[in-house]
Amino acid sequence: MDKQNTINFFKKNGYIILRNVYSNDQILRYRKFIKNKIQESLGVEKKNWKDLENLNFKDILSYPELRDVILNRNLLEKIKILLNDEEVYYWGYSSFRYNEKTYRSTHNDAKNDDDNPFKTFYPLLRIGVYLQDHEKFSNGLKIFKGSKHSYNYGRTLLKKALKEKDFRYLIPQTLRPVNVDTKPGDVVIWNLRTCHSANALRLKYFNKISLNPIIENLLEKFIPKIFEPNEKERAVIFSTFGAMGNPLKNFLRDNIQHSEIFATINNSDLDDQDLISKSKSLGLNILDMKKLNLK
Ligand SMILES: [Fe+2]
Repeated sequence: MDKQNTINFFKKNGYIILRNVYSNDQILRYRKFIKNKIQESLGVEKKNWKDLENLNFKDILSYPELRDVILNRNLLEKIKILLNDEEVYYWGYSSFRYNEKTYRSTHNDAKNDDDNPFKTFYPLLRIGVYLQDHEKFSNGLKIFKGSKHSYNYGRTLLKKALKEKDFRYLIPQTLRPVNVDTKPGDVVIWNLRTCHSANALRLKYFNKISLNPIIENLLEKFIPKIFEPNEKERAVIFSTFGAMGNPLKNFLRDNIQHSEIFATINNSDLDDQDLISKSKSLGLNILDMKKLNLK
């Protein structure tokens, strides 16, 4: 896809897949590191998400074994394009998961987002690196194409629509689910306003059909054999990037209030001058939250 098509697809659908960003050696290195790191702390059983969030790890740039997940020129160039060619900022918001229990919920991850999602672009993106096959197998990411907000039907949504005189708020946001067909080495990038759900189930037949997570939970309970299994134990790396401005500052204010997120940022070794200049040379600005007046 050329630059303009990439931007158009992303703005229209709220996500994009980059193919073959990482080599086989990188994929194996990442899987091995994540597996060891998490099993050292929590053993080999399936992990509870709360336990995974409370491990007090550093951000992924602070681990030399994971550093080139982010420090990848091709990836950083694409992020810059998707942020309207603004400077790209990273502040340590990242995590990795291994062999987590299954959780499904339709949500988005924009925080303190006061702007109208139909009239403004939200300059924050998440990068998901899924280190196993989700083209043929289950447990990948589900994206609701073109979705802009995650308000449920009710008074809040109606108030918002009336206040802003914008009745696009009432258009259902979760009508177009897609199970993202990433393979190891691919990256999926989505806008933090885009609704999504984890652990998408892929049907054995009609396997391009993506179901609502509520239906997936129900069918998995009663007729699990209609779904493909996992290819391998699920290993994923997430990181978040943004362009400078009020939406990012509002997002950071929310980060500070969530100890599990802030602990990772706080534990990070991002003040290393070599790391800062290497990142800068690849187009990435490491942001020191302490230098922003966020109170
Ligand atoms: Fe999410």
